[in-house]
Amino acid sequence: MSAQQHTRSLVFAVSTIAALAGLLFGFDTGIISGALLFIQKDFVVTTKMTAWIVSSVLLGAMAGSLLSGHLTDVFGRRRLMLLVSVLFIAGTAVAALASQLFGIIAGRILIGVAIGIGSYTAPLYIAEIAPPHLRGGLVTLNQLAITIGILCSYLIDYAFSSAVGAWRWMFAMGLVPAILLSIGMLFLPESPRWLVMRNYIDKARDVLTRLRNDSAEVTTEINQIQHSLKIRQASFAEIFQPWILPVLFFGAMLGLIQQVTGINAIIYYAPTIFQLAGFHDAGSSILATVGIGVVNVASTIIAIFLLDRAGRRPLLLVGLVGMFVSLVGLAYVFAAGAAQANTLRWVALGCTFFYIICFAFGLGAILWLMVSEIFPLEVRGAAMGVAVFSCWLWNFAVSFSFPLLLKNMGPAYIFTLYAVLCVLSFIFCYFKSPETRGITLEEIEENIRKRLPLRAIGQQVSK
Ligand code: BGC
Repeated sequence: MSAQQHTRSLVFAVSTIAALAGLLFGFDTGIISGALLFIQKDFVVTTKMTAWIVSSVLLGAMAGSLLSGHLTDVFGRRRLMLLVSVLFIAGTAVAALASQLFGIIAGRILIGVAIGIGSYTAPLYIAEIAPPHLRGGLVTLNQLAITIGILCSYLIDYAFSSAVGAWRWMFAMGLVPAILLSIGMLFLPESPRWLVMRNYIDKARDVLTRLRNDSAEVTTEINQIQHSLKIRQASFAEIFQPWILPVLFFGAMLGLIQQVTGINAIIYYAPTIFQLAGFHDAGSSILATVGIGVVNVASTIIAIFLLDRAGRRPLLLVGLVGMFVSLVGLAYVFAAGAAQANTLRWVALGCTFFYIICFAFGLGAILWLMVSEIFPLEVRGAAMGVAVFSCWLWNFAVSFSFPLLLKNMGPAYIFTLYAVLCVLSFIFCYFKSPETRGITLEEIEENIRKRLPLRAIGQQVSK
């Protein structure tokens, strides 16, 4: 193996271990879809309690994402990721061993804090370890890990659906990736950028020497980091300066749109929806859910290749149209009374699959990619925090309200509501979304400083 291949594999291995945090994000958010059916058998669970069990993880994630910016600077990325893995292990143990619903909720809040910190720190760590030309692909590796985590959670739900104490086993299996993450992180290096920030220049040089091809590259990168650190990091209040506000608003809106168009009503409640659509036993509805997991992973892999070819904007817009069509289909099936017509439940299944494909191509990968691209360097950390927080906040709102709306309004109305929100989102993205393909982050920043309209911040700067 040439030296170049060796460093490439090393960078890939380091990113893969860090992406285990993304896998846990997917696993611990997805696992509840199947576990819920069994918790409802062991306890008396009111609709409101169902909403709490599913959404408690998101409350934790909101708190975690708010704390992340500060914690990554104080502890360093590596130590914080170790702490994240310990939190995952502790939260999982509390939830799996719970003797009351309260214990499940407490465990899931802890897991949520770990997810919130991990969803910010893992992509940051990967971006700082990766050589510039591999950065885009490696950052999207994190989204792929999230979808793989969701798929694993569905498979585990299926595998344990006839076990005694099924939901405990389902939660407990989350220990495997959490332990792997904690062992893996023990061997990973600290981020060179953080080391330079703390003035451990020799240590940063050691780390980079292992991760880059030659010493000239290492020296250039250390100089670049030192140069970029001279750019003063703005305080939280400063992200509200007039020239930054439009991109900040766009990032927060993208977080909102990713969630209010209904993705997690499907990801977290899929077996429940399938039961309503006529797949009556828990096993077959969880199996149909596994199909969703597979389609999600496959479409995300294709999206990773398409994003740099077709561009972000077309995928975002076409994805929203496809999601709208599927939601209208779902609303129709439920309005027509799926349970009476055998063929309609297959239509419901088809619409759900199509919805997931369109989400994965569009909003799924694009949110996480764009929030790492559009913010000017001096506010990147804090502004990313706002966008990620908005995503968790709206995720909470949708996941908490879904079972309550389901009970009070019925599925046809809810899917119609998400369809209407898709239309509004399309209009917003059509007029506001920039195209950030093939342009450097510095050029995007220059355009923002020139106060170009949002839609134009991705255009090449004329010299
Ligand atoms: C979203 C999650 C969602 C997942 C589904 C992510 O981009 O942030 O809320 O569950 O995609 O694949």
